[in-house]
Amino acid sequence: MTHKIPDDIKKEIEKLVADLNYHNYRYYVLDSPEISDAEYDRLFRRLKDLEDKHGLILPDSPTQRVGAPALERFEKVRHTEPMLSLDNAFSYDEIREFDKRVKKLLGGDSDVEYTIEPKYDGLAVELTYHKGFLLRASTRGDGYEGEDVTQNIRTIRSVPLRIEDKQIPEEIDIRGEVYMDLEEFEKLNKERQKKGEPLFANPRNAAAGSVRQLDPSVTISRKLYLVCYGTGALRGVRFESQSKFTEWLREARFPVPAKIIMATGIDGAIDAIKQIEDSRGGFSFETDGAVVKVNDFALQQKLGVKTREPRWAVAYKFQAHQGTTKILDIQGSVGRTGVITPFAIFQPVQIGGVTVSRSTLHNWDEMERKDIRIGDTVIVERAGDVIPHVIEVIKDKRTGKERPFPLPEKCPECGSKVIRDEGGVAVRCDSLHCPAQIQEKIIHFASRGGLDIEGLGEKNVELLYSKGLISHFEDIYKLKKEQLLLLPRFAEKSAQNLIDAIERSKQTNMAKFLFAIGILHVGEYAAKLLARNFRKLEDLYHIKPERLLQIRQLGDKIASSISSFFSDEKNIRTLESLKTLGMQISNPDFVASKKSKLPLEGLAFVITGTLPKPRKEVEDLIESHGGHASSAVSASTSYLVAGDNPGSKLKKAKDLGIKTVSYKELLSLIEGKRNPGLFD
Ligand code: IVH
Repeated sequence: MTHKIPDDIKKEIEKLVADLNYHNYRYYVLDSPEISDAEYDRLFRRLKDLEDKHGLILPDSPTQRVGAPALERFEKVRHTEPMLSLDNAFSYDEIREFDKRVKKLLGGDSDVEYTIEPKYDGLAVELTYHKGFLLRASTRGDGYEGEDVTQNIRTIRSVPLRIEDKQIPEEIDIRGEVYMDLEEFEKLNKERQKKGEPLFANPRNAAAGSVRQLDPSVTISRKLYLVCYGTGALRGVRFESQSKFTEWLREARFPVPAKIIMATGIDGAIDAIKQIEDSRGGFSFETDGAVVKVNDFALQQKLGVKTREPRWAVAYKFQAHQGTTKILDIQGSVGRTGVITPFAIFQPVQIGGVTVSRSTLHNWDEMERKDIRIGDTVIVERAGDVIPHVIEVIKDKRTGKERPFPLPEKCPECGSKVIRDEGGVAVRCDSLHCPAQIQEKIIHFASRGGLDIEGLGEKNVELLYSKGLISHFEDIYKLKKEQLLLLPRFAEKSAQNLIDAIERSKQTNMAKFLFAIGILHVGEYAAKLLARNFRKLEDLYHIKPERLLQIRQLGDKIASSISSFFSDEKNIRTLESLKTLGMQISNPDFVASKKSKLPLEGLAFVITGTLPKPRKEVEDLIESHGGHASSAVSASTSYLVAGDNPGSKLKKAKDLGIKTVSYKELLSLIEGKRNPGLFD
């Protein structure tokens, strides 16, 4: 910027940044906002306007949390001080042994002062602040070298972009954990299930997956939190103890653990662990233990580290919320987008005070990996409010009667043939008639990219579905204004508008229509390709994948899903009914080119005898070049393809005067040389 920014504008920007950061802290760290969201938004917009107009953006401006472009890869970062892990203790006896070791190493017998806090189950990060400003954020990696995730960590609202303190250290590395709270975790998994995406097994994986994203816009869409519990390298500042450091963190507006208990002597520490375990259910985050640390930093120094763990701290691991039960049955459930997920029905079991009688098994891959079968005895975990899941099968309890649950051939809701997604991990139902999906399909059908029926969005589709007015695609075009007027959301005008919008949608084109009916993997681009290559909808009925693969831009996955959609009679019937109901589908995109005519189009073939290639392969070859392969010779047969030891078909063909060709001649037909016939 060349022009000078007026002082009053500069002051206003500085004040807005400071105020917004303060309110951000009240909201995300203290969970006690002082102003309304609307007021916050107003201040934010004012700041953004001033920044845009005057080009002055302070490094800690809250507008800088968003908007960084996606990276190609993460840079490596070497930690100044290695990031260690913790020794685990699984019983109070082991905690007492830890205390004994500490005392022995310190060479005394007096009680040691400990701090005890929950262990957050997330992703360990290091935040480097230079002269008070967030310079870099990195993951732990192997402890010595991690990845630079600064632009993702910046999007987390509880991460201060600037240290607020009278005494600002020259440079400080602050360590903590990025985590996802349980509510957000469940919400995210529900959304993923709806979209047919793989679920995160636990909040830790979800947090790690969200931070290790090259595109920060993904990270910002996931609500993440930070909690700080330690230091790395320090320059220009010293702390006496963990508790003094925590005090400083609080003042400098960093989020600290939800509960920190001080105890002198190991009995008090064990008591504190119990308190934390008791509070566990009330925490908004996942915790799998409590960390006990020697409070005094000088003593920590004296105790030092083993190879990878400090001698001054230990993690007490809580008993997981687990139970053992039997799988009575496994069934498939169909999500709103057609993904079929296996779930187990248990002999009801009490886990952490709740009766658990079923749980998702996520997908077939996971089920096979854990080798889960009907009749198996399994360990089930229910952590916090997290949905229960099967941890493992107790193989010793097998009797031999257990049965695996294979990938279903048919949709458990509607009985249509299912499609296997690549890799076979997911199976989907793609029928237009599946009650589990019909709402979602209709919403898509009517959406802007589809047939654009204004007034037929999510809410109204839900309403109309719940009233039994639309349970099939066809029903949209049978809706009557009088029916709408009986519903709470409709008045004269809105009902008329919807009826009009439905009427308008009857005039459409093939590309739009193909996208709107929501064939798996067929987006707007593939729909357009189909429209370019096929004159009318009927040309797609019963289409073979081989034919579709001749369209260069279509891959196997799309081709097989299109072919499977159009081989379902019920789907075809629906398309025909839509036409009967007045739908008119033009196709301005169709390009009739010579090239698109196939060499065997309009020809019928019958095969006899042994050919150089398996019969099925030859049939596919014929079909993929536009021909039709049938099994019996008749007057309408164009060619008999005869191999070695031909059967009675040869005679019949001769009798009927049908041309006979060899396999080689078939190939030249395909290459475009008509009438090769020896027997011509
Ligand atoms: S103190 C030398 N305090 O647990 C490491 N760690 O399993 C000192 N963790 O690497 C760490 N909550 O990522 C500490 N309140 C807490 C913690 C905590 C979670 C993580 C941390 C550590 C890992 C060890």
